[in-house]
Amino acid sequence: MRKLVLASLAAASVAAAVGGATLATAQEKEKATGITAYRQSVMDSFGADSKALKTLLIDGEGPVDLAPLHVQYMIDMAPHIPDLFPEGGDNKGSHALPAVWKDREGFKQAADNFKTKAEALLAATEGGDKKEMAMAYAALGKEGCGGCHNDYREKED
Ligand code: HEC
Repeated sequence: MRKLVLASLAAASVAAAVGGATLATAQEKEKATGITAYRQSVMDSFGADSKALKTLLIDGEGPVDLAPLHVQYMIDMAPHIPDLFPEGGDNKGSHALPAVWKDREGFKQAADNFKTKAEALLAATEGGDKKEMAMAYAALGKEGCGGCHNDYREKED
């Protein structure tokens, strides 16, 4: 009997979870505006700059002397990241997790860590050693971007 009750409780929470997922999907379709739209554009720029850096540094194609420009944008923007996620902002269409606001210190630290990794990549591009650049590029993506996304951004399906 007890088992049965537990089983139906489990079924109810699965239903709740599925219901929640449907709601999240509906929210994802909402268009972001204001600061949310802006920060998503900044993130999209990070994505485009990362792609440009891969072409220049990893594939070894294109004007490699322009690589520092792409890294510099990330370094300059990094300290502003926490301000792009204001307390009590309208988060319509956002994929940020509540942890961004609940764990403010951790989020700031993730932005700092990202800046440090970008600075290391800038130093590597100035050094010009291909292996160093590849390692710094990988660390920026995995630990800099990924380090923050793992804890503060909804997982992509
Ligand atoms: C300090 C945290 C942090 C760092 C560092 C960070 N991101 Fe993000 N990123 C986020 C959060 C949070 C979101 C979700 C924003 C939202 O939807 O409100 C996001 C969203 C994105 C998006 C989706 C934007 C959209 O149009 O919805 C892309 C692309 C992205 N990030 C790329 C990157 C890349 C590439 C890097 C590194 C070069 C990076 N991010 C570094 C926290 C971070």
